[in-house]
Amino acid sequence: MCGIVGYVGEQSAADVLFSGLARLEYRGYDSWGIALAAPDGLQVRKKSGKLAGLRDLLATETLPGTVGIGHTRWATHGRPDDVNAHPHLDCHGHIAIVHNGIIENYVELREELRRQGHTFVSQTDTEVIVHLLERELADPDALRADGGYVGEYARSGAPDALLTAAVAATIRHLDGAYALAVLWDALPDCLVAARKGSPLIIGLGQGENLIASDIPAVLAHTRRVAILNDGDLAVVRAGGVEFLDGGLTAVTEPEIMEVEWSLEAAEKGGYEDFMLKEIHEQPTALRATLQGRFEDGRVQLSELTLSDAELAALERVFIIACGTSYHAGLVAKTLIEKWARIPVEVQVSSEFRYSDPLVDARTLVIAITQSGETIDTLFGVREARAKGAKAFAVTNVVGSSVTRPEAADGVVYTHAGPEIGVAATKTFTAQIAALNVLALKLAQARGTLTADEIARIFAELNELPGHIEQILLHQDDIRSCAESGCCVNACTSLFLGRGVGVPIAMEGALKLKEISYIHAEAYAAGEMKHGPIALIDASVPVVGVATDGSTYEKVVSNIKEVQARDAIVVVVASEGNESIRNRVDHVFYVPRTSELLSPIVATVPLQLFAYYIAKSRGCDVDQPRNLAKSVTVE
Ligand code: G6P
Repeated sequence: MCGIVGYVGEQSAADVLFSGLARLEYRGYDSWGIALAAPDGLQVRKKSGKLAGLRDLLATETLPGTVGIGHTRWATHGRPDDVNAHPHLDCHGHIAIVHNGIIENYVELREELRRQGHTFVSQTDTEVIVHLLERELADPDALRADGGYVGEYARSGAPDALLTAAVAATIRHLDGAYALAVLWDALPDCLVAARKGSPLIIGLGQGENLIASDIPAVLAHTRRVAILNDGDLAVVRAGGVEFLDGGLTAVTEPEIMEVEWSLEAAEKGGYEDFMLKEIHEQPTALRATLQGRFEDGRVQLSELTLSDAELAALERVFIIACGTSYHAGLVAKTLIEKWARIPVEVQVSSEFRYSDPLVDARTLVIAITQSGETIDTLFGVREARAKGAKAFAVTNVVGSSVTRPEAADGVVYTHAGPEIGVAATKTFTAQIAALNVLALKLAQARGTLTADEIARIFAELNELPGHIEQILLHQDDIRSCAESGCCVNACTSLFLGRGVGVPIAMEGALKLKEISYIHAEAYAAGEMKHGPIALIDASVPVVGVATDGSTYEKVVSNIKEVQARDAIVVVVASEGNESIRNRVDHVFYVPRTSELLSPIVATVPLQLFAYYIAKSRGCDVDQPRNLAKSVTVE
């Protein structure tokens, strides 16, 4: 959701910004823009639509400048048109800013600034920021006279003193979330960046430095990355970066990490789309996530910093998450309740925060977020900790906001590698794998499973990557089913499951609607006759999760009910179940597993099913319309 790139160096800033923004396309956007520090002032180009527009522009126009900021906007306030696209400029075109996040008090600020003579051209919340900056920079004496840290910095004699002080003075007025980058033509060799609540990283290169919303945007230049702390600022020049905390005191030892994965990991590697590549990466992702988690007969999860006694004393677990991660949470509920015998409540993060949740010191809150940046989940964790609960995060992104000490008490990483396709695939199955480990850890601490039982479950978990490889070998069967007229041309569809099959049905339905734009509804199969069955006729494909398990026969009965209403039925079933073959229209077989481990294998055919339907409909599977990979607004 909104991508920011900034560059200060020796190369053509326009080219660097274009390639950086292209690496952030996965975040979802509907317009783009760049501002460059050119010899005769700021050069700004911005437009609605995809980055191909910028590529075409750069093919015909040489834009000078080695310092600049770029942005891809995912519209929140105001339509995705040319005017609302970032960068936004002050009244005189001397200051440019790009912003990710939402300024909640922008209406009041805009009115105040209008009364003071500022003219606004866009409908965005962002535009107030640049006018606030303009106001601050118009009166350097007032900045210097400020009695606090702003004045102190403005008087410091630093080459960037006024701009940095003005940014610090500006953000004091802002309520809400922001990651922003500022370019001022009076200081054309530097950028000032700041963040609160929205992600921003700094790429530290040789003779060049970058800022970006995410790591892939800087990887072509450097693997040394610093994550800007929440509330901090950075002054970025070609020769170095100065890190400042919210009070403008120098951060002398910023946390710098060496990115372990390469640019290739964030490229398609011969696959037609990132989504297909990522579906195929699931065996590797799962192996990496499970590696080293069961050794010497014990579950290894030292990241969970609670002692066994504390885990045993837990009275309740809350899981909060959004989207696909929420479905992983629903699977985890069953695992934890069955294995560790603790009541688990799962809530979407956006509801949790405002529900006055019943959490206390005997509650463990697990926040699941592949990106680590979903704002609702971050706020939910904060709420839980404020009430005394311990909060742990399950995430895929090292250094993301949820991993910061101020966010969670501990982090369990999935090791799925970068996921670029907007629709989560490998991160979902990796999350379930990590949550299996977490559930077993709880069971071990509470003594609800024996060591032998845990060892047996681990042995089976370790077989799952191989099972997925088997499923992927048969992807053409799934493809031909998906491409058949009844599926590709459907207007609506119903996904059914029971028990752990319900969240998998939900995930299958979510994947289909996200990328193919076919309406899909998921239901607990037994509940289907209390409403959705009214929708069923020959035009509605019904997808059933019917792997072996305690409710298998019940699912089959529910399937018969829809067949009696002429529905086309596709099921995911366990290998060896020959009897189902003649009873339904299509079967996707998956290797046999015990019931509680079936979600991972049952998910994969549904990912492929959605993928091939979407491809047949000509949809952009990697960047579905209106969706963003990292949702940094409430
Ligand atoms: C967006 C993405 C989904 C994702 C959800 C939660 O909606 O499009 O794929 O499941 O956010 O994201 P998180 O990073 O918190 O798992």
